[in-house]
Amino acid sequence: MSGAAVDQVLVPLLYLLSAVLFVFGIKGLTRVRTARRGNLIAAGAMLLAVVATLLELGAIDYRWILAGVVVGGAVGAIAAVRVPMTSMPEFVALFNGAGGGASALVALSILYLELVETPTHGLTNATAARALGPDSALSSVLSILIGAVTFSGSLVAYLKLAGKVVPGHPVLLPGRHLWNALLLLGGLGIGVWSVYLVTEPGTVFAAAVVVTALALLLGVGLVVPIGGADMPVVISLLNSYSGLAAAATGFVINNNLLIISGALVGASGLILTQIMCVAMNRSLANVLFGGFGAEAGGAPAAGGGEYGPVRQASPEEAAMILESAESVVFVPGYGLAVAQAQHIVRELADVLADRGARVSYGIHPVAGRMPGHMNVLLAEADVPYEQLLEMDAVNPEFRETDVVIVVGANDVVNPAAQNVPGSPIAGMPVLRVWEAKTTMVIKRSLGAGFAGIKNELFEYPNNLMIFGDAKQVLQELVAELKQAAA
Ligand code: TAP
Repeated sequence: MSGAAVDQVLVPLLYLLSAVLFVFGIKGLTRVRTARRGNLIAAGAMLLAVVATLLELGAIDYRWILAGVVVGGAVGAIAAVRVPMTSMPEFVALFNGAGGGASALVALSILYLELVETPTHGLTNATAARALGPDSALSSVLSILIGAVTFSGSLVAYLKLAGKVVPGHPVLLPGRHLWNALLLLGGLGIGVWSVYLVTEPGTVFAAAVVVTALALLLGVGLVVPIGGADMPVVISLLNSYSGLAAAATGFVINNNLLIISGALVGASGLILTQIMCVAMNRSLANVLFGGFGAEAGGAPAAGGGEYGPVRQASPEEAAMILESAESVVFVPGYGLAVAQAQHIVRELADVLADRGARVSYGIHPVAGRMPGHMNVLLAEADVPYEQLLEMDAVNPEFRETDVVIVVGANDVVNPAAQNVPGSPIAGMPVLRVWEAKTTMVIKRSLGAGFAGIKNELFEYPNNLMIFGDAKQVLQELVAELKQAAA
């Protein structure tokens, strides 16, 4: 195939195919059943995109690229194997940051190469907007601005979630909104001024570096005041920003695939942000400017309030009730992830199903610590997808349910969301487990969940507390039921 055929036919075709596959990949991610396939399709699309880009670049020195692939691949592979599920949110934050940083660096290097280093493109009495075209020049400013905000913001999000250096709770500095507004306007102003009015290449590049610095500060300023349960919302927003930065970079380097894939990431990140805001009954403006969790400290509180008498049961007593249950709904929460109890939950469900009970799982959209956390864990234990019921589907079922087994969940089954107007979770849609005949809550103590508040469900007359580590309690329940069946 001639060089022209590769450039004009093969590369655009591969880009088109890759763009279509990205769309199918994202579509696959919208359902648990198709998520794995969607991931594979998107990874395949990325491979095609890399191959097409290398073909387009033609005869270049591949050594740096190879070194990058080896180092990046090794880091990714090691992280994928070693990072526990509970630490995924902070790693997603790091990945977003890397995406934003890469976009900003590409835009910066294009400005340097085109304006400073290449004499033919150097500005001689022309502005960058004239030399590069107004869309490329302005896009490079946007790419630097959004990319650098994403980079530093994601880094702060990572440090907060990992509990390193920056406190996890909101840090509300006085005048922060004014400072952030000044940084944003300053970055935009200097960027627009430099590409439209300056004719000295060195000054344009220096201005780009200043814009980078202001944007880095803005990223820190935007994320430091956010904390607690709002962090996943911020991470998904930063994910969306990383897509926008990539799309802007696509305009800078004239790459349609980067524009399409960046726009896909930008749009899907925004949609996820919206879904999570609705699930937590918060507006995006409230997340970004509100400082939720300042009072609760953002981290799980130890106590969560005084309790009246609660009914307690041993695994043996609970098993006796389960023996006669015809319908059982499991409600998993963060404690399931901590205890790594997904396999034993599945085993208990199988034992109950063998005894003739109808078994399903009620999944709250923000149960756990990341979107889809429970789905991922239960999929790992091969729980049949049709048994997983979303909140809207399972809530009407509880009235007809004999036993709900709450495994390490707390906030997502807290009636305070409906009954206590001033509560930090007031208005958050929750799983109405208390409507079932009996609820059993498996957790280690009466300690609070993420929101740090009391859960009245524990005091309800139809509720039984089974104290202990979720895995251990479930193992005992399985043993009791098996013994009873023998
Ligand atoms: P939480 O309300 O955080 O409650 C989890 C409970 O698990 C705790 O009360 C804890 O009680 C128990 N637990 C911990 N380790 C356990 C173990 N080994 N065995 C048994 N129980 C154990 O969890 P949830 O109901 O899933 O709600 C999620 C919360 O996190 C919501 O407030 C949500 O807004 C927030 N959040 C969600 C996300 C996403 S996107 N999913 C991200 C960040 C924050 P004990 O200590 O008494 O055992």
